[in-house]
Amino acid sequence: MTDAVQPQYKGPQRVFSGMQPTNGLHLGNYLGALQKFVRLQDQYECIYCIVDLHAITIGPDPQNLANRCREVAAAYVAAGVDPKRSTIFIQSAVREHTELAWIFNCVARMGWVERMTQFKDKAGKDAQRSSVGLFDYPVLQAADILLYKATHVPVGEDQKQHLELSRDIAQKFNNDHDAPNFFPLPEPLIQGPGARIMSLRDGSKKMSKSDPSDMTRINLTDDADAIMSKIKKATTDPLPVPENKEGLAGRAEVENLVGIFAAVTERRVEDVLAEFGGKGFGVFKPALAETLAAKLSPIAAEMRRLTADTATLDAILRDGAEKARAVAQPIMAEVREVVGLWSA
Ligand code: TYM
Repeated sequence: MTDAVQPQYKGPQRVFSGMQPTNGLHLGNYLGALQKFVRLQDQYECIYCIVDLHAITIGPDPQNLANRCREVAAAYVAAGVDPKRSTIFIQSAVREHTELAWIFNCVARMGWVERMTQFKDKAGKDAQRSSVGLFDYPVLQAADILLYKATHVPVGEDQKQHLELSRDIAQKFNNDHDAPNFFPLPEPLIQGPGARIMSLRDGSKKMSKSDPSDMTRINLTDDADAIMSKIKKATTDPLPVPENKEGLAGRAEVENLVGIFAAVTERRVEDVLAEFGGKGFGVFKPALAETLAAKLSPIAAEMRRLTADTATLDAILRDGAEKARAVAQPIMAEVREVVGLWSA
């Protein structure tokens, strides 16, 4: 695998990330990614995408796809991504994503892509029947990032392997074309207790949209009552909240709830344990649920307002696509030249 630093790269520092427009975002998406998107705007030029081309790798849904995209765009804005400062756009509106993905298909090696654990998880037992697109998903993801020569990519921990693949593709492209620092080696931003939010019912499974039970996750649109009920029913054990991090060992569900508290209040796990250590879950759970509701309710209300106002959302997305194209097209033109594609 490639080194973490690339001091020779002199291009601009730029953040890129994306989310799939799959029905309903949850707390894992918020704490693992979206909350970081908002914070990073103070420090970097940020480009945030809604990856509809990735969504169709699972199956078609032409009637709902556009509205699902709008819902994610509304979540971005409601959470605090500012469309004036950052670029928010739909992946398929910038055609160069697919063009670069093809070129990267010719750079990435079968063995690299075959190692991707997310494909194995998503394809399940019958990989032969899944789409080629699902297999190729991480190569398109590399194209998303590198089309903007992005240097930093905020994601949850489940994306770590895909980011390593993006770095390997960038490195091999640079080597193969004798263009040492053409692409940056994008750095994943994964740190913090929000990077891996687990199911409320089973601390060994990540919180996910695909879990059949809604009680395993907090949806961004859940109201205060639903949040309270889900947190109260979340799996814990009879012991009190531990006083230090060592006390979390072997208590995955407790570690998850404490991690959620830390992430949502942007504090350290140690500080949450200092406040609640020794107290029972009868005290901790209501405090957590109230904190979550206070954070998520205004976001849910703003999401509702925005999704009802499709004209405003669509204008944001049109403007975002234009800004994204202005960055992507000159980079794609350079790529075509480096690769030697026909230009006469
Ligand atoms: P998606 O839509 O599956 O997830 C969106 C983001 O949410 C994070 N996430 C979590 N973080 C913490 N705990 C969880 N339980 C949890 N579940 C999801 C994901 O890590 C992700 O950051 N492949 C990407 C979409 C993508 C992308 C890109 C990301 C396509 N192109 C380019 C970055 C850069 C994905 O998993 O989306």
